[in-house]
Amino acid sequence: MRSAKPPEAAAMPDSLGAAPPDQAAILAAMPLPAVVLDAQSRFRFANPAAEQFFAHSQSTLGQMALDDLLPPDNRLFGLMAQVRRSEAPVADHDLTLESPRLRRHGVSAYCAPLPDMPGCVVLTLQDGSTAAMLDRQMHFLGAARGATAMAAMLAHEIKNPLSGIRGAAQLLEHGASEADRELCTLIQEEADRIRKLVDRMEMFSDRPIAPRAVNIHSVLGHVRRVALSGFACHLRILEEYDPSLPPVWGDRDQLIQVLLNLVKNAAEAVGEGGWNGAPGEIVLGTAYHHGVRIAVPGTGERVHLPLTVTVRDNGPGIPEAMRAVLFEPFVTSKRGGQGLGLALVAKLIANHGGLIECDSRPGRTVFRLSLPAPPPGQDMTETDE
Ligand SMILES: Nc1ncnc2c1ncn2[C@@H]1O[C@H](COP(=O)(O)OP(=O)(O)OP(=O)(O)O)[C@@H](O)[C@H]1O
Ligand SMILES: [Mg+2]
Repeated sequence: MRSAKPPEAAAMPDSLGAAPPDQAAILAAMPLPAVVLDAQSRFRFANPAAEQFFAHSQSTLGQMALDDLLPPDNRLFGLMAQVRRSEAPVADHDLTLESPRLRRHGVSAYCAPLPDMPGCVVLTLQDGSTAAMLDRQMHFLGAARGATAMAAMLAHEIKNPLSGIRGAAQLLEHGASEADRELCTLIQEEADRIRKLVDRMEMFSDRPIAPRAVNIHSVLGHVRRVALSGFACHLRILEEYDPSLPPVWGDRDQLIQVLLNLVKNAAEAVGEGGWNGAPGEIVLGTAYHHGVRIAVPGTGERVHLPLTVTVRDNGPGIPEAMRAVLFEPFVTSKRGGQGLGLALVAKLIANHGGLIECDSRPGRTVFRLSLPAPPPGQDMTETDE
């Protein structure tokens, strides 16, 4: 190994107290393989997890370059080149590292530049996360597909007879006694309620979207106004935006629907106030993350999802038991809730080739959307309406 020592890290802030930790010991204790590679991709440092991963000792790795272990067309080299070019960290959640020695590993790779060591990058690998990521996506898509099939069935089988029932009740109403008229009204109201449910289910149908460059801040502004003038009128809705965010590649109406559902859930969770008596608060956020890429299940296609939109609330959080089925249709804890909001959100985000994730604990629930930017060469003119 050219340098057995890990690269110098920035000085620790005083507030962390105690003696400065031994950086080599920290890196050695890390369960994830971590290596430092120079501009020619030669190993400059490897922790014990990396020795195990690459099946070579530190001293052997010290005589090698990454191209000795991986074929030159492996995407990891492109990833590192991108980091050196942009001087910004990049994550890739679906890389395959394959060679006779390494056999085959699906990994997530996190690569960052080392400003103090020009041309050098630090690479951290996480084994097996592809499967987890795909599982998560498949889970959401599965939920969406289940709902899609149900939507088609409901729309065809229920709507026509339903309008017949409603029409008949209306006709009967004319010659009916006072008491029977009440029943006729009840039938019509219930028929209307079912009709509304069916209409909502129909939104799950597989209509392809025609994506355009959408100004997500304008979408969020619209959703915020709708919320504040109605269901969230008693709450604060704060904005934490990255003002330089490029547009989202998507469908404006569907994105409004997604965010309205998330903000409505947040408002309902916060109720009259936040967790532990704090004032009820919803925070809308946007951010840009270089290089978050995922594979689209079943297609082999890979999408770049650099735009993050978050909806955060300080309500009581999502019950543990509900988290695994959160995006399934008809899951609800609310009296009068249909349990369709998040299933619809999962479906619409899947239409965008995006990803939705949720982190929740009492006092802090965050729904995070990862969305695509317009492909290169596309018209970047944003639609505001
Ligand atoms: N921000 C949140 N905080 C706490 N629980 C939440 C939050 N968002 C969703 N949930 C939980 O997830 C469940 C499902 O939400 P979903 O939007 O799918 O259905 P719903 O809100 O119950 O009904 P609707 O079909 O009217 O939206 C909710 O009933 C609630 O228990
Ligand atoms: Mg809801």
